[in-house]
Amino acid sequence: MATINLGFLASGRGSNMQAIIDACRDGRLNANPAVVISNNASSVALERARNADIPGYHLGLITHPDPDTLDFMIIEILQRYEVNLVILAGYMQKIRPKVLNTFKNRIINIHPSLLPKFGGRGMYGMKVHAAVLAAGEKETGATIHLVNNEYDGGLILAQCKAPVEQNDTPESLAARVINVEHRLYVETLQKIINGEIKLPAAR
Ligand code: GRF
Repeated sequence: MATINLGFLASGRGSNMQAIIDACRDGRLNANPAVVISNNASSVALERARNADIPGYHLGLITHPDPDTLDFMIIEILQRYEVNLVILAGYMQKIRPKVLNTFKNRIINIHPSLLPKFGGRGMYGMKVHAAVLAAGEKETGATIHLVNNEYDGGLILAQCKAPVEQNDTPESLAARVINVEHRLYVETLQKIINGEIKLPAAR
């Protein structure tokens, strides 16, 4: 089977990306982490790319203020590394139509809640976990989904639950959910790559 090349888009800490890189490197995931793009020059994600000898690029509205040029560059880099699957890993930018169409049904995101609950515009990071607690939920979790033009709105590919405990704070909940995320992202990519989860047609 031809190697699947993964292209990461990440803005911050990149711990999900690292979990996927580790799984590729130790043979749990039959894929090649090919390239990392970050809109944040000082992101930990780019540092992780350097440490793992993966080409890393800073591309964002600072380097390319015109969104069309930025999209062109993002596509150019992803194609240069022959990326088959685009992995969003804490990427704090909306993916615009040109990139969506070029990688149709091949852009995957993770969200730290059981979508469609606690998703949508403005629902990110600690805000998600605070909203879960405020709603008195007994369980939360993580969702892997395809990316479309709605925030957190694409086809759900996999979910995994995590309990909400009585004395949880947003921080303690985030710490529980992030562990679930790391496992779920790797498992879901394994299933996509071995055909157990079928993505809709790319064209
Ligand atoms: C994760 O909680 C993910 O669900 C969300 O952004 C966070 C990224 O964390 N999309 P990290 O950068 O992977 O550590």
